[in-house]
Amino acid sequence: MKDLAYRTASSYQQAKQHANDNPEAFWADIAKNFEWHTPWNKVLEYDFHTPEVNWFLGGKLNITENCLDRHLKTQPDKTAIIFEPNDPNDAAQHISYSELHSRVCRAANMLKANGAKKGDRICIYMPMTPELAIAVLACARIGAIHSVVFAGFSATALAARINDAECSILLTADGGFRGAKVTPLKDIADEALTSCPSIKNCIVLKRTGQYVSWNNMDLWWHEELEKVNDNCPAEVMDSEDPLFILYTSGSTGKPKGMVHSCGGYMVYTAYSFQNVFQYQKGDVYWCTADIGWITGHSYIVYGPLAVGATTVMFEGVPSYPDYGRFWEVCAKHKVNQFYTAPTAIRALQKHPVELVNKHDLSSLKVLGSVGEPINAEAWHWYDKHVGKHNCPIVDTWWQTETGGILITSLAGVTPQKPTFATLPMPGVQAVLLDNEGNEIEGETEGILAIKHPWPSIARTIWGDHERYKNVYFSAYPGYYFPGDGALRDAEGNFRITGRVDDVVIVSGHNLGTAPIENALNAHKAVVESAVVGFPHDVKGNALHAFVIPNSEVDPNELTDELRVLVAKTIGPIAKPDRIQVVSGLPKTRSGKIMRRILRKLAAGEYDQLGDVSTLLNPEIIQEIKQNS
Ligand code: PRX
Repeated sequence: MKDLAYRTASSYQQAKQHANDNPEAFWADIAKNFEWHTPWNKVLEYDFHTPEVNWFLGGKLNITENCLDRHLKTQPDKTAIIFEPNDPNDAAQHISYSELHSRVCRAANMLKANGAKKGDRICIYMPMTPELAIAVLACARIGAIHSVVFAGFSATALAARINDAECSILLTADGGFRGAKVTPLKDIADEALTSCPSIKNCIVLKRTGQYVSWNNMDLWWHEELEKVNDNCPAEVMDSEDPLFILYTSGSTGKPKGMVHSCGGYMVYTAYSFQNVFQYQKGDVYWCTADIGWITGHSYIVYGPLAVGATTVMFEGVPSYPDYGRFWEVCAKHKVNQFYTAPTAIRALQKHPVELVNKHDLSSLKVLGSVGEPINAEAWHWYDKHVGKHNCPIVDTWWQTETGGILITSLAGVTPQKPTFATLPMPGVQAVLLDNEGNEIEGETEGILAIKHPWPSIARTIWGDHERYKNVYFSAYPGYYFPGDGALRDAEGNFRITGRVDDVVIVSGHNLGTAPIENALNAHKAVVESAVVGFPHDVKGNALHAFVIPNSEVDPNELTDELRVLVAKTIGPIAKPDRIQVVSGLPKTRSGKIMRRILRKLAAGEYDQLGDVSTLLNPEIIQEIKQNS
């Protein structure tokens, strides 16, 4: 495949110019490097008011032919996936493009044999094993829409996602290894499936070998595979057919099933992957995310495979068996591009630097950061100890909704600036708005917005186009509104300052406060609750829950029960760090909770509460301060 990357500052500038002058010709030039069954007859049709976005209209393709079949002609034996297991004593696996193709086709036939067809939704709740990537690609092969649910979510959260998309098949495993822990995935799935009438089959991968109970609809993955062969022609998809649904938190209790479509997503993830990381033939690339998040979809699976890269999949965690595990894996597989989250860097930074230094990191060329703002201290530690001042760092800003990286430097090609994501990618038109929605120019701070579609923008929220419109296109008509604030320096570099809505990024995970409040409120002793984020030195942000109990309860018992309840309803990642029992919440006269004040109280910024005299109950501030 042709190299999609701009390798010099001048070719980057030219691309930027071309994209500004004629966006459609720019994207068509990139898209023609892929394999299409039928070329598109129109590049783009869009209206941000309805909102409607269609890319490469009339184009027919299958993304797996671009990620797999195409490479069989030129590099069948090249390693597509290096699988590094949780336990360092277990052997790594190197899966070639031809083996991956065969395994994906076989798994696709397994799905078909169990009734799956184009347009069906298939839920994937699996640990980070090669079969997870294979499952994703197998769905894409037959045109089924995958909905991956991160294997740390609870039974209730899993069931809500299965039911929202009315999935017909669940793919899961007996259990999953993560550090010293084993997650009983099948048990959790069993609990979820007691309330998921749409599921007809549950196909179970044997990973841990632990005992699992067995139900009528359960099938073993390995037994089902034996019944089918590996000949599976790809389903021909329309460019705009949905490829997958991925849920992300919102500011109401219900998660949003973001829908991505085939053509535009393929073009943008491949284009951004090669450009941002400056991936070159023969490089080994490692993104430490989980495929349960968008980062794993776009930059472990689809982007790297579309350009024929070698991508590392890691089953474990950075702290197991010790805090040197990331660097051990980098040295072992001679990783060239390493992409992780600031929260991981901050956690590793707290441990002796000897854990980094004892590994040979000389293969590293590029470092990446994603998921939340990277603070200066973490940036410099990453640069000094991991990159040895020799590896550009790409701070990549994007979202589940954007499908791919929108604001970033290109490693070694455009300048980096610590704590700044820097510039929009060529083809991305990022602007700052004031509160009235006017574009503001120059060195300033405002609300980040995008004013022209890019190919991998999510097309809708599954089953709720109105919500898609309300959340992303109504606040500032004519723009895509991501929900982040940003400042811009004199050179046009963007620094993302954080969310401007009720979403909190905890350890790089996007958590809505509303679903957590709903979980807390479901406890019989809770009258009302409010959850806000506060700064945390490792997690970036942590959660502080203020809870009003309805009777004389033991606050310690209540807070323990509430933690368990949140873990059960959403997942352990959503457990508040602090739960404070209070007798009231600061409210306006119209009864609205003043979250701004709660955020200041949680952060201990008592001198920055602002005017509290308009509150209905100003006396509550003193009480909250006293027993915080
Ligand atoms: O607030 C921004 C933050 O993460 C949000 C998106 O979260 P999610 O959909 O889970 O996707 C995470 C992985 C792409 C954004 O709205 N965010 C992401 N990357 C950065 C960031 N904030 C600052 N700098 C970043 N590089």
